[in-house]
Amino acid sequence: MSAPILVLYAHPRPEASRVNQAMAEAVRDLDAVAVRDLYSLYPDFHIDVPAEQTALKAAEVVVFHHPLQWYSGPPILKEWIDSVLLHGWAYGHGGTALRGKRVLSAISVGGKSEAYQREGFHHYTVPDFLRPYERTATLCGMTYLPPFVFYGSYSATEMDVHRHAQEYRQHLLALASAPQGAR
Ligand SMILES: Cc1cc2nc3c(=O)[nH]c(=O)nc-3n(C[C@H](O)[C@H](O)[C@H](O)COP(=O)(O)O)c2cc1C
Repeated sequence: MSAPILVLYAHPRPEASRVNQAMAEAVRDLDAVAVRDLYSLYPDFHIDVPAEQTALKAAEVVVFHHPLQWYSGPPILKEWIDSVLLHGWAYGHGGTALRGKRVLSAISVGGKSEAYQREGFHHYTVPDFLRPYERTATLCGMTYLPPFVFYGSYSATEMDVHRHAQEYRQHLLALASAPQGAR
């Protein structure tokens, strides 16, 4: 049995993307994967909450897929979280819809991994910057997986990008083939 994976892809300028667009293309054809391109679906930021909640209910793994921008996700992802993860549905009294699902942040960053160290240029690690996503997932009763990160996008070669996109595909396939209950 394979676990359905919902990829919430958020790139404000996909036409200018080297890394994330290649990653999205590498997983789009997988049977277990549904890619929702948030900027394309909601250019006016008016999120269709029932449609997003239906997509979430069907998923076993939810992927926040985006470039890191100012140490966070792009604005539509925040809008999506604020609009969709409602009290009484996702968390709080009676809010059990997402319990037991897994969440993965699949992100790319411009800086190199050595810059994302305590002693490095950015002073904090990428998982440190992703804490709001981790807490959001945990508050909703979901398991937050170790993030899948592509470092150094500014200096990456085409081969680096291609390899990473293929690794992303393998990573999602592995998640799909290991349903939460089976581990
Ligand atoms: C508005 C903006 C903010 C960014 N902020 C960061 C940042 O905080 N840290 C970082 O390492 N890279 C930052 N970057 C670089 C992007 O993360 C990088 O360009 C992206 O991961 C490359 O992926 P892509 O080829 O799919 O666009 C920023 C880029 C933009 C446009």
